[in-house]
Order: sequence, then C-alpha cells, then structure tokens
Amino acid sequence: MPPRKILITSALPYANGPIHLGHLLEYIQTDIWSRFQKARGHECYYVCADDAHGTPIMLKAQQQGMDPEQMIAETKIEHEADFAGFAIGFDNYYSTHSEENREFASLIYQRLDQAGYIKRKVISQLYDPQKNMFLPDRFVKGDCPKCGAVDQNGDSCDVCGATYSPTDVKNPRSVVSGATPVLKDSEHYFFDLPAFSQMLQDWTRSGALQEEMANKLQEWFNDGLQMWDISRDAPYFGFEIPGAPGKFFYVWLDAPIGYLASFKHYCNQHNIDFDSFWRPDSSAEVYHFIGKDIIYFHSLFWPAMLEGAGFRKPNAVYAHGFVTVNGAKMSKSRGTFIKARTYLDNLNPEYLRYYFASKLTSGITDLDLNLDDFTQKVNADLVGKVVNIASRCAGFISKRFDGKLAATVAEPALLNGFVAAGDSIADSFEKREFARAIRDIMALADKANQYIDHKAPWVLVKDEARQQEAHAVCSMGINLFRVLMHYLKPVLPVMAGEVELFLNSELSWNTYQSPLVDHAINPFQALMQRVDPLKVAAMVAASTENLQATPQAPTTMVNSNTVTSREREPISDTVSIDDFAKIDLRVARIVAASAVEGADKLVQLQLDIGNGETRQVFAGIKAAYVPEDLVGRSTVMVANLAPRKMRFGLSEGMVLAAGPGGSELFILSPDDGATAGMRVK
Ligand code: 2FM
Ligand code: ZN
Repeated sequence: MPPRKILITSALPYANGPIHLGHLLEYIQTDIWSRFQKARGHECYYVCADDAHGTPIMLKAQQQGMDPEQMIAETKIEHEADFAGFAIGFDNYYSTHSEENREFASLIYQRLDQAGYIKRKVISQLYDPQKNMFLPDRFVKGDCPKCGAVDQNGDSCDVCGATYSPTDVKNPRSVVSGATPVLKDSEHYFFDLPAFSQMLQDWTRSGALQEEMANKLQEWFNDGLQMWDISRDAPYFGFEIPGAPGKFFYVWLDAPIGYLASFKHYCNQHNIDFDSFWRPDSSAEVYHFIGKDIIYFHSLFWPAMLEGAGFRKPNAVYAHGFVTVNGAKMSKSRGTFIKARTYLDNLNPEYLRYYFASKLTSGITDLDLNLDDFTQKVNADLVGKVVNIASRCAGFISKRFDGKLAATVAEPALLNGFVAAGDSIADSFEKREFARAIRDIMALADKANQYIDHKAPWVLVKDEARQQEAHAVCSMGINLFRVLMHYLKPVLPVMAGEVELFLNSELSWNTYQSPLVDHAINPFQALMQRVDPLKVAAMVAASTENLQATPQAPTTMVNSNTVTSREREPISDTVSIDDFAKIDLRVARIVAASAVEGADKLVQLQLDIGNGETRQVFAGIKAAYVPEDLVGRSTVMVANLAPRKMRFGLSEGMVLAAGPGGSELFILSPDDGATAGMRVK
C-alpha cells in the first residue's frame, strides 16, 4: 500500500485549567493512533493547541490580576510539560491566540459572508450593568422558573432538570459581580447552519461518524438545525471580527480553526504543502479525535464552515466516552480528580497509557479507571507477562553466551505465528480497537511464557551438554519478546525505546518479520517496576489536597488561586472533616494595605499572623474597599495555601470574604478579643 498522507488532531484544551486524567484519555488514544500510523510508514502529522479565547479565560485572568496573554502563555507551558510527561508526541502544539489563527478565522468568515452565509440580527440578552458586559448563560444564576429552586444555573436546574433561557430565570444575578442583570439589545452575527442541512446529513452517513453519533445527529436533524450565533460583544478575549469594531468571534468559531492554524504553523516551518491537505479535492486524510460532548461543534458547525469556505471536510470525527474513576465521576473530595502533574509525581505514565489502551474501543462508552484493577492489570500484563519474557532469558544470554543471540531460530513455527498475528493486530489498531489489539498481544505473551516454562532454560543451563539448547531457547524467547514490543511500541513508546537499546535494534512495523540471529544484544536492565499501591494511594491523597474554592460560592476566597470550573470538569462534592482540617485558618491583622499599580482589582495586604510572622497577600477586593481603610482591621486568612507568584509579587495566602463579588464583598472579621495568629476552628 502506498504511504497515506494523514493529519490527526485532538480537541484543544482550554487555557484556564490543568490537564487531568479525563483529558488524557483522548490524548493517549490519539497519540497511540498517530504513532501507529507513523510506524506503518505513512506521512502523518499530529497537531493540537491550547484553546485560548472566551469569557471564562478573560475573567480568570482578571481575577488573577494578569493579562490574558500572560495567563495563557503560562498555562501553555504547563500543558506542554504535562503532555510531554505522558509522551504525547504532537508534531506541533500551538495556541488559538496566534496570527495564523486570526488569519484563517478572518478568511473563513469573509468567505462565508461573501457567499451569503452570515446573517445579522439584533437580539436581547442579559447584561451586567456593573461590569458592563453581556453575560454568557453560565454567568447568570437565579431561581428556577419551573420549580423555584434557588441558586440554579442560568440555563438549567439541577433540582428539577428543567432547561430554560437565562432571561426566564427568577431573581437573576450576575456571577461576575452579583449585580442584577438587565436586558440589552445588540446586533449579533449568525452562521446559516440550516443552509448546510442536506450536505451534513449526507456527510454524517458517509462513514465520517460512529453509528451512535450519527444517530444522535439524526435527532438534531429531525428537530431542525438553527442559525449559530458566532459573535460576542466587547469586552471579550478573542479576535475582533473584520469590519465589525467591538464584535468578536465566539470562542467556538475560532477553536476548530486552530487545527488549521497549528498545522499551518508546522507546514511553514517544515516546508510541507498545507494546501495539499486542505483543498476540496485533497486525497490526504484528516481525522479529529474528540470527546462525545463536543460532537455538535465538530460534526455540524465545523464541516459546514469548511464546506462554505472552500476547504475539504474531515474524513472522520472519532468520539470517545468520559473517564470515571472507581466507577464514579471524578471527584475532588474523593481524590479521584487527578491532575496530570499529580499522576506524574507518583506513577509511571506508561502504566496509564497501557491501561487506557487495554480498555479503549472504537465506541463512545465511558471508561472506568478502577485503581485496583489498574494496579493488578499493569502488574500482571506488563511486568508479569511481557517484561518477564525478556528478564527470564536475557541474563543467560549475557552471562553464558557472550551477549549474542543464537544463529538460528529454534521454533520457526512458533515465531511465524507471532509474526502472522501482526496483520490482525494492525487492523485492530487501525480501527481504534485497542482493547482487542492488547488482548491479542497478551495472548501471545502467554504463549511465549508457556514456551519458556516448558523449556525451562534455567534447568538446561545447568547441564553442560545442553548449552546449545539453552542458548536456542533463550534466543527464541528474546525474539518472541521483540515481536511483542513491536506491537506495543505505539502504546509504550518509552519502554520500547529502552528495548531498542537493549536489543540493539530498531522496532518498526517492517522489522518484526525478520528475527534477530547471531546478533549482539546489550545487558538487560529492568524495563518496568511493578505498580506500587502505596504510590497510587499517595496520588489519591495528593489529589484530595488539590481542593480549591470556586468563585461562584457564596463565601469567596479572594486571591489568585481561585479557579473557574471548566465546562467539562466535574463539580466537587462534599469535603470530609479531615480535608477541612488541612486548611490552616488564622486570625490576621492588616498592618498595611495599598492599591497595586496596573491591577484595577487588587489590594496588596501585609498581614500580621502572630509570632512575629507577616504575610503578603494580593486580594481582589479593591472594588469593595479603600485600601487605607483596611489598616488595623482583623480578618481571617488561609495561612497554608501554597504561595503564588503574581506579576506584582508573591501572594502568600488568601483572605476570606463573603458576597457575590465586585463592590459587594465583605472580608470576614472575628469578634473583638480574637488576636492575630489565633487558629480559626
Ligand atoms: O471542550 C473543550 O475543552 C474545547 N476547548 C475543545 C475545543 S476543540 C476544537 F474545536 F478546538
Ligand atoms: Zn427546577
């Protein structure tokens, strides 16, 4: 088969939060597929980027007293380090806040506009009169219009399950400032999605989507497609729409265009013909890997935008399910909301790559990371079966046979069986049936171990007359191991790299067919340690410590460490008394307070926390207080919060305040008699 030209993407993570195990399923799945395609000799590129625009990112940067550009730059560095830790081999990792993306977003918009696919219409939306901004649905809270439950989201009720428009919410308030929103008119730009209805129905059934997804889309087609609102008014962090001052592209307009921009950036640097991948008649293949929650964007808006703007459409959009941990949604209080970094601090990333691969199919069912099963499976399969083959044979080769493999293959039929399985294993990888591939590989590993058990080379070596036989058996074992490592290389690239050094031979999809004979190998070094259950427990404990407050909570923790909950991040539930006891709350006396130049929300506080100790904290309370008025007052602070480096200096804790925010924020004060340094219980 001639080499194929393949472009692969994973969904772009938002630039306002850390990578966690929920994200990693997708990057690991895509990376395995991309490594597999590359190993097969295809011209294959895997690109991604941070999704850097939108209201949540703008507001989080404001909360942190940073420019959004600075915040997204810092997040990108963290994301890239996390991905590298898990050996995710992007050819290019970029940002949607790039010149290439601005150009493509403008080009696509202008082409759509010229072709008559952009409509303008005045709409009325909730507006925060204090922050002077329109409020996205999730930034409005209030009472459910159906059942009256208080403090519900602007678009849905957690109590009765109703969905509604934010304008129907009773007693609405802005999550950003606490102000009561007002209705305000503004002209919005809409993409005429219904104009593409027939094309999308044909494309959906062309094999571009998994069956479950195509069925889901059919429901949307039956309901009728709607015009898509692609503009947002200032203030907004994104790209201004050409010819429309004060109007910005909605983040979801330029996010998938980020796939083009990231690839374009790579093509420019590596002299690759971008157009040969993206022109309408291109024979190159394009695949998007995504979570099932964002299928609407990828299988309706995105192909329609591409078609309308004269680009080719993707060959397929592959959705996967969500990750659960120990059978439940990831939870901060249970310590199962595990960040990539926390995992890497404790465990070998290839355990997770293997475990996910062993459970991944081409479908969209959720994948449970059961931590006991994870430990048991990795230990049994990788350490107990695969590595065991090599460790049982390699020592004899080094010690007794001069590090050289035998000149002939002892059991050609057995080896041929291993080689013959390659086509079907490749077919499983190609079809994203990784679990099936792993099952087949492990069945072969069992066979190899049975062969070694049966031949018992440790007995043979003791018999001077049977040295040649022992040499043949051990060499055979190494060759069987080598074939398996070829198959596992897309899943375990790091261990495969070590095996290449050990075997003194490269593992690629066209080398496993010929065995190593009369070939010098290197001394064997332990390739993988067993999963230590104590490390798993330590990871869970460390994740429990990652508890953070959300800014929507009625009691607001005011400093740079607050996180905005991400759309796909599970909401934390209750905390245990032990969790609560970890927080060191102290009475603090404000000894100095001043405004911070260049940060319109922050006050710089010097706090006396007793025993002669002082702390500097940057608190977002300027809208509520004249800094000087705070001097001499007592308040409550979190004294054991990890210090955070801000643009203006180090913030060494967090001051507690109550209220929705903005000018309606009240720092907590203890009764008279409490003095600086006292513990708050
Ligand atoms: O859901 C998300 O996390 C989005 N940031 C995914 C964007 S994927 C693509 F369209 F850019
Ligand atoms: Zn309700």
